[in-house]
Amino acid sequence: MTASRVDLTVRVGPLRLQNPILLASGTCGYVYELAAAVPVQRLGGVIPKTVTLQPRAGNPPPRTVETACGLLNSIGLDNDGIDHFLDHHLPRLSTLGVPLIVNVAGKAPEEFARLCERIDRVADVVAAIELNLSCPNVAGGIDFAVRPELTEGVLRRCRAATGLPLIAKLTPNVTDIAAIGQAAEQGGATAISAINTVLGMAVDWRRRRPRLGAGLGGLSGPAIKPIALRCVWQLCRAVSCPVIGIGGIQSIDDVMEFLVAGATAVQIGTATFYDPACAVRLVDQLPGAVAELGATSVRDIVGSLRFRQ
Ligand code: FUM
Repeated sequence: MTASRVDLTVRVGPLRLQNPILLASGTCGYVYELAAAVPVQRLGGVIPKTVTLQPRAGNPPPRTVETACGLLNSIGLDNDGIDHFLDHHLPRLSTLGVPLIVNVAGKAPEEFARLCERIDRVADVVAAIELNLSCPNVAGGIDFAVRPELTEGVLRRCRAATGLPLIAKLTPNVTDIAAIGQAAEQGGATAISAINTVLGMAVDWRRRRPRLGAGLGGLSGPAIKPIALRCVWQLCRAVSCPVIGIGGIQSIDDVMEFLVAGATAVQIGTATFYDPACAVRLVDQLPGAVAELGATSVRDIVGSLRFRQ
């Protein structure tokens, strides 16, 4: 099979994406800043920073710390709120020519639902909503994806509020992510994205203080890739909806590992910080890697992992 003939399109529920490479929320600002330098319209989709109902000032600095093979962050969902997002960011985002997935977080299921209602009114320019059930850096944020009944409850409220595809973004900081995934699907999730960051900590022993202003933070980058792969694989065995892989993806080998493990698409996060064009480069490299497996389409390799117990 020649690389030029490989079909890169994938389906996430009713969504047809031109390829499976997406930009992860929180790592690409509001995307149009990046679009000045990177042809984002070549991607499968983009996901701007989480939006909440009310503006949030975020956590005290320092908010990021580099670790041996990852980034620790505790931003605290700093954003200007849904009104500002709809009035100022959305008009620019909607001209980028790439499917837009809006990521939202609420303090309660009702808040998630209200955000979905607001976004449903602009459904003509939004491809899907990603529910951030898993931010480790705000009180009352992570809780929704640590107990199946809470996850399902949020999904049910949101499902009733919008006809847009709903992607439930899950945390790895649980005992059984498969059970949480099943609850999300039961509640009406169109797809699941996993994983959000892994709860961590950095210490300045000379000052006897945590390095992050908030104390704890979320670890991302290459360090968490094996955890993310394990979660994606477990989720794919437990649910029938598509799973979108996130976690330390920076090379075409990483992308292929997630696809073979079962991910229908992937999100590029921390890698964008040190190589803003990383995701577009991966789109360029994908046909060659798929062809190397003798396949004619990305869909043919998704979940093709041969796993022996
Ligand atoms: O602190 C933050 O804003 C992180 C958000 C997230 O990981 O979802």
